[in-house]
Amino acid sequence: YRNLRVALLGGGNVGAQVARLLLEQSEEFANRVGAGLELVGILVRDVDAERTVDLPHELFTTDAESLILGADVVIELLGGIEPARSYILMAMNSGADIVTANKALLATHGPELFAVADQVGAQLNYEAAVAGAIPILRPLRDSLGGDQINRILGIVNGTTNFILDQMDTAGDTLEEALATATDLGYAEADPTADIGGYDAAQKAAILASLAFHTHVPLASVYREGITEVTPAQIESARKAGYVVKLLAICERITDAATGQAGVSARVYPAMVPRSHPLAAVHGANNAVFVEAESAGSLMFYGAGAGGVETASAVLGDLVSLARRHIAGGPGVAASIHADLPVFDIGSITTRY
Ligand code: NAP
Ligand code: HSE
Repeated sequence: YRNLRVALLGGGNVGAQVARLLLEQSEEFANRVGAGLELVGILVRDVDAERTVDLPHELFTTDAESLILGADVVIELLGGIEPARSYILMAMNSGADIVTANKALLATHGPELFAVADQVGAQLNYEAAVAGAIPILRPLRDSLGGDQINRILGIVNGTTNFILDQMDTAGDTLEEALATATDLGYAEADPTADIGGYDAAQKAAILASLAFHTHVPLASVYREGITEVTPAQIESARKAGYVVKLLAICERITDAATGQAGVSARVYPAMVPRSHPLAAVHGANNAVFVEAESAGSLMFYGAGAGGVETASAVLGDLVSLARRHIAGGPGVAASIHADLPVFDIGSITTRY
């Protein structure tokens, strides 16, 4: 099989880590996929900007069209609506498959992009768009695809969870904690998206649409951010045995007046009892509870933000679609290709 040409749009917090891992582990990826994944370029605004990750300068470009039209796979990590939307459409129409982490785009233009993907036969993967490194979208769509999901309850924004946690445990102000979250690469380019609850609302729209098999428009997601949460409120919540968390709640509900079945999606700061598992979600971690008719309650937990953590989800999407892209390749067997010794270390209790 020939190498797959991978174009990366964006070399920021997430993009730079994706590029680094693709370059450092190219042989391992080739084994897993059955074909090389060749990083052919990284689209940025400024090719000479100083970067925290050391990447070959010749990979950086500002020529979006040439990069996209020469690619088999386009990974979009620019953020925002435009030009991300136009670039993804251009890529799909030229025969490329797509990986994106762009929840703002999917929550507003998802139906358009999915329709074009179906029309042209492109794969469009977006696991990293919700809850960072946590595999949640594929489990909802595939593993739970034979079940009925009734409710999702989650912490889906790492920045606000980090801020509320710092306010609760370290006495930081919102501004101080936001500055740290930005330095650590958790916040959006415009952090109003995080603290205003917009990012969590976008994720709620994506989760609800997948879980309930219906289009849940962003405009119909109730939203409150954390900007009005004060240290005094956090303190009195603590004294009463609660912790304040920004929750996203998606559920099937029945209209009391008409008896009509429907769904609801809403995001707001909520008082969570300290005994509840969600109260133990610290830092930029996320957690998503799923209540399904047959499976019962499931919980997904892990890093909800961060460049390298999110890169894990992006690369998982890339490996998955690359395997399908080269249909007829090694398929399922490709996941088991290494020849590592298996050690017998008995029952040493300090190793898990
Ligand atoms: P970021 O650090 O702001 O990086 C954005 C990158 O895109 C930069 O390299 C920037 O170029 C480039 N870019 C932006 N607009 C451009 C344009 N018009 N033309 C060319 N290049 C452009 O963003 P990020 O944190 O990596 O996030 C990327 C995406 O992942 C977003 O959709 C975000 O919501 C999503 N996401 C982020 C996280 C996280 O923890 N950070 C987690 C999950 C999902 P320059 O470098 O030259 O400025
Ligand atoms: N800014 C987002 C967050 C990135 O803090 O959760 C992950 O989507």
